[in-house]
Amino acid sequence: MKILVTDQVGTEHELEGLEGWRVMEVIRDWGLNIKAECGGALSCATCHVYVDKSWLDVVGAPSDEEEDMLDSVGDVRSNSRLSCQLLMSDALDGLKLTLAPSAAKEEAA
Ligand code: FES
Repeated sequence: MKILVTDQVGTEHELEGLEGWRVMEVIRDWGLNIKAECGGALSCATCHVYVDKSWLDVVGAPSDEEEDMLDSVGDVRSNSRLSCQLLMSDALDGLKLTLAPSAAKEEAA
């Protein structure tokens, strides 16, 4: 199964992932610019992504804890999610998202 990820400089990448992986892990393991500092423990918000609007219903709403973490970033939008909270499954095959500036390992130029 695949996800389509646009990075912070606008390049689109098609990444292969496995069922049950966190979307954050797929992005990180393919070497894209995502910090994911806490490794998926929902305590950093540096795995912040914008889910393509056409996928919002499939992905569903964030938990209260996730929303609290998202409130801590300055570039939050209505389609913001933390990618460590999204698990790869058949339903998410083809998921499109964009890496948020605040997920970058270094300050984006
Ligand atoms: S990796 Fe830290 S909240 Fe997702």
